[in-house]
Amino acid sequence: MVDSVGIRRRLFATRSVDSLVADTAVEGQTLKRAVGPVQLTALGVGAVIGTGIFVVIGEGAALAGPGVILAFVLAGLACLFSALSYAELASSMPVSGSAYTYTYATLGELVAWIIGWDLILEYGVAVAAIAVGWGGNVNAFLDATFGVQLPAAISQSPPDGRFNLPAVAVVLLITALLALGVRESARANLVMVVVKLAVLIFFIVVACTAINTGNFTPLLPNGSDGVVSAAALIFFAFIGFDAVTTGSEEARNPARDLPIAIIGSLLICTVFYVLVSVGAIGIAGAGTLAGSDAPLAAALSDGAGITWAAAILAFGALVAITSVVLVILYGQTRIFFSMCRDGLLPRGLATLHPRFGTPAKLTVGLGLLISVLAALVPLSEIVRLTNIGTLFAFVLVNIGVLVLRRTRPDMPRPYRVPFAPVLPLLGIAFAVYLMIDLPGSTWLRFALWLLAGILIYAFYGYRHSRLRQQAPADPA
Ligand code: ALA
Repeated sequence: MVDSVGIRRRLFATRSVDSLVADTAVEGQTLKRAVGPVQLTALGVGAVIGTGIFVVIGEGAALAGPGVILAFVLAGLACLFSALSYAELASSMPVSGSAYTYTYATLGELVAWIIGWDLILEYGVAVAAIAVGWGGNVNAFLDATFGVQLPAAISQSPPDGRFNLPAVAVVLLITALLALGVRESARANLVMVVVKLAVLIFFIVVACTAINTGNFTPLLPNGSDGVVSAAALIFFAFIGFDAVTTGSEEARNPARDLPIAIIGSLLICTVFYVLVSVGAIGIAGAGTLAGSDAPLAAALSDGAGITWAAAILAFGALVAITSVVLVILYGQTRIFFSMCRDGLLPRGLATLHPRFGTPAKLTVGLGLLISVLAALVPLSEIVRLTNIGTLFAFVLVNIGVLVLRRTRPDMPRPYRVPFAPVLPLLGIAFAVYLMIDLPGSTWLRFALWLLAGILIYAFYGYRHSRLRQQAPADPA
């Protein structure tokens, strides 16, 4: 018989950091250490700059007016504190699985499962949604360049169309690339990152020539509330820097390179976002951005009279979103991989392809599932759902830093968050602040997803957990 204290111990059993690291050396389950600091930073930028700045900025402008610029600053700040915590955990636990793994070592198996399940939602749904956004941009690009469009029935998800063929195509293409090899994927990502940054620099330079300062007043038509609501939405634009940590096991020198890549990619993206939003508001005003599906192209054509730029911007959006799909899908496969390896999901899936050295079976399986979602899912609400999942992960990662500082004070930490516990506490406060601003419907969907996860854990993960099979969890 197991009493309630025993059950509590089992649910909150933690994995030791040493065993987490040792696991990465298991025969046949060792990922290739092939990625350096530039590629890791590019991985971060690759995951971050996409739908948010190319599409969601319009909705942000509708909520905050020119204050959308401040919303970018606020959301970036919220990310910065959590990024520091991610960096500390990633440098001291260079294993696959990101927040899921960190939580396993700090807050125990139940919370780890919840966060892993949460990240599956965040990454999986985000990829589907981002791919749908990609599909939309294909038509914008074809229209601007050749004056033709794919029929809605095969280029849009329901309810506007029947089957989103471009979205499926991009997910399957990226799935194949990821299954073939990390080095190849990292190289492709680097090229895409250079292209999207070039397109954004083009935008900023052109915008500088036609700024009308009158567009910045009134700065806050909806007050500070508008800015906070916009920040809770625009936060989507920053999601992805955490994906760098999902590649920890493939980093050549994780202790040094992960903090550089996490903080570096966040700073690069924040600078770009602020400059792009200043430029976009400056040339066209918040009204133009708010009313458009392709706000940056609209800003150039309506604000500066440069109509030919639409094709360049649509092309930039396509490339940007492709790299976001690449990195986020990569992150999801690595989290899933870790959860399988720990026995919380079927362990048979956590095997590596003998030649490619990647979890190819898992990658293809997830890619197929997501492509079905991408074909059929409508885009609305998804952005907020992804945001709430990510913010929740941020809260737990910050708590993880605080717990581990107490429980393992002597653990080697190549990178330490400065001014702890103040900065991790600020990270928690900012994340909760933005979460509170999300609507009740988002909270409800999120709660349902977590409930489903707890049921799966109760009926599968709890019984198959490798941690429990290895060591009796009730040592008292
Ligand atoms: N940050 C990513 C994007 O904006 C998810 O597309």
